[in-house]
Amino acid sequence: MLVHIKKIIRKAQQFGYAVPAFNVNNLETIIAVLRAAEKMKSPVILQATESAIAYAGLEELSALMRAAAGEVNVPVAIHLDHGHDLKIIKQAIAQDFFSVMIDGSACPYKKNVLLTKKVVRFAHEKKVWVQGEIGRLEGAEDWVKTGKLEAFFTEPEDAVRFVQDTGVDALAVAIGNYHGVEKIIEKKELKLDLKRLAEIATVVRAPLVLHGASGFPAGQIKKAIKSGIRIINIDSELRISFAKAQMEFWRKNNKIFDPRKILKPSILKMQKTAEEKIKIFGCKGKA
Ligand code: G3H
Ligand code: 13P
Ligand code: ZN
Repeated sequence: MLVHIKKIIRKAQQFGYAVPAFNVNNLETIIAVLRAAEKMKSPVILQATESAIAYAGLEELSALMRAAAGEVNVPVAIHLDHGHDLKIIKQAIAQDFFSVMIDGSACPYKKNVLLTKKVVRFAHEKKVWVQGEIGRLEGAEDWVKTGKLEAFFTEPEDAVRFVQDTGVDALAVAIGNYHGVEKIIEKKELKLDLKRLAEIATVVRAPLVLHGASGFPAGQIKKAIKSGIRIINIDSELRISFAKAQMEFWRKNNKIFDPRKILKPSILKMQKTAEEKIKIFGCKGKA
């Protein structure tokens, strides 16, 4: 069932677990995630980025998400991930996204605040939740190579000031997390700054969001949840599951032309990945 994200997150805050926000681009990923959520009796967030929208179409993708969410017996929220373009944010809100992210994290503090406030003003009038970000993640792969990732981590005092200055409902933080499949494929050593997270969580009341969480060891993720992470974004691990199932399929088959048969192994593998995440995040049985 389609619900407002605040219903899902308030409960996660009350009982101390995190809810997965899975990135979706197509019907197959939506099916896989929702089957996992139903099997695990877990709440779940389906999210689309601007590039997912460019790929699939906003109306098409939101209609798919809404229709699929309406068919399952667990709470499902729909979220716009990494919004940058005010026009797309407004269009997404018009398409029943009751949660949007404005990602001004690449901007200097003041500009990030101005941009985020603008979205908060518009969204709150429509009872839509806004996620903001302070600290930087994207392109972090380069910073890892140069050893300067820490320079972009979220400062606790900036985090508390940013929430006050903007009125965001949820806050994404940079504590060693970063986007992309490379960190998994290249078997990078992944380390969250849990001490910094604990400091942020003691001063920020808004639910904290961990982006770029694919590939991080379960132990670290569980500790991050104990410290106050309430939403965890997963895209890369679903992509890898989708692609690996395809590679395996094509190694074994060259005479199958029915897309349903071709895509089925990818759906099953993504579902398994989503189930594993739900178990680690502590939201199994919390629907
Ligand atoms: O952080 C978000 C995604 O992992 C990247 O998504 O390729 O759909 O923009 P995108
Ligand atoms: P990953 O690339 O680690 O899956 O992160 C996804 C994400 O943060 C989407 O917003
Ligand atoms: Zn992200």
